[in-house]
Amino acid sequence: MNNQASPFDDLIDNVIISSPEGLITEINLAALNLLGCGRKEDLLGRPMGKVCRNFSLEKITANLPLENYEMIYVDRREKEIPVHVNITARRDRQAALHSIIFSARDMSKTRTLIYELTQSRKKLESSYADLRASKDDVVRSEKLAFTGRIAASIAHEIRNPLTNVIMSVQRLAKAIKANDPNVKHVEIVLRNAERINYLITELLNCARPPKLDMRACDIHKLLANVLESTRTKIASQKIKVAKRFTSKPAIISIDKEQMERALLNLIINAVEAMPKAGQLTIMTEYNENVFVVKIQDTGKGIPDGDVIRIFDPFFSSKQGGVGLGLAICYGVIVSHHGTIEVESKLKAGTTFTVSLPVR
Ligand SMILES: Nc1ncnc2c1ncn2[C@@H]1O[C@H](COP(=O)(O)OP(=O)(O)O)[C@@H](O)[C@H]1O
Ligand SMILES: [Mg+2]
Repeated sequence: MNNQASPFDDLIDNVIISSPEGLITEINLAALNLLGCGRKEDLLGRPMGKVCRNFSLEKITANLPLENYEMIYVDRREKEIPVHVNITARRDRQAALHSIIFSARDMSKTRTLIYELTQSRKKLESSYADLRASKDDVVRSEKLAFTGRIAASIAHEIRNPLTNVIMSVQRLAKAIKANDPNVKHVEIVLRNAERINYLITELLNCARPPKLDMRACDIHKLLANVLESTRTKIASQKIKVAKRFTSKPAIISIDKEQMERALLNLIINAVEAMPKAGQLTIMTEYNENVFVVKIQDTGKGIPDGDVIRIFDPFFSSKQGGVGLGLAICYGVIVSHHGTIEVESKLKAGTTFTVSLPVR
């Protein structure tokens, strides 16, 4: 007689029933499958210890019923199968133990499921981070586009009358005698008009996506030029400069003037972050088809809350700061199809990483 039918055969759970002495008296098809056995008869009458590694009859009978009890079944090939078992007692009329029912869930399947779930969660989290990053980029370029429209109209409306103001005041300055008490007022007007003119020019620069004049250019030379132009400031603030350039040739196609502007802004910011000495490190390297420039300072760092705002036009934490340097920089890098990232630790320093595709 093969595989005598059991009322438990239809259950998904793996059911084994034992006598109070721990001998198997019944086993359903699911349990038989789990244990890799073909015939119930091979197991009926055998001790539970044959199919369960950590079986202790005393422990179990003393604590019945048991819920989600961890047991390790062993299949025909001695492979261990971790299971969670609900163990209940069947008793006769006199309340004496008649049999013990072991109803098990195979945990290895649950573990696979948990593993798969964890993996999908990780994937979801990473896509969410990507989504957020690209949303930040969209918001940033929208802001720049908006600033651009406003800037263009303001510039148009203000430029011409301002030029007239400046020219007239310059004439007035020439006509006025050096000892005239009004000299200082004329100078104030001139200085401020020129400041407004400068702001408008800067604003226009950051707003209008620059038309690029792409030519092959040695970025290392360009960086050396930028450093040279800030040499006095660097020296007066006792800043040490380290150049760690890749030994490979760094000739890539860029708009030299725009890129110089962008990198100069980054270097000036680094210098301004270290008013009382520090170290400025400029690193370059190739990362596959990308040329990477890192500008690192040991300055004051950027507070966490400010990091998302530093590329915004007019965001500045400096007294008298215009707040357009990074906005301009961002515009230039993005129009080169590059990326700019920042990493900063308060009171420790900041690193800006510019990545430019090499064509
Ligand atoms: N290297 C840096 N270290 C610390 N803060 C920085 C650095 N670079 C930029 N920042 C922060 O970003 C702000 C915006 O920079 P930027 O657009 O160049 O404007 P500005 O230099 O006129 O303030 C700065 O005011 C400063 O708060
Ligand atoms: Mg700046």
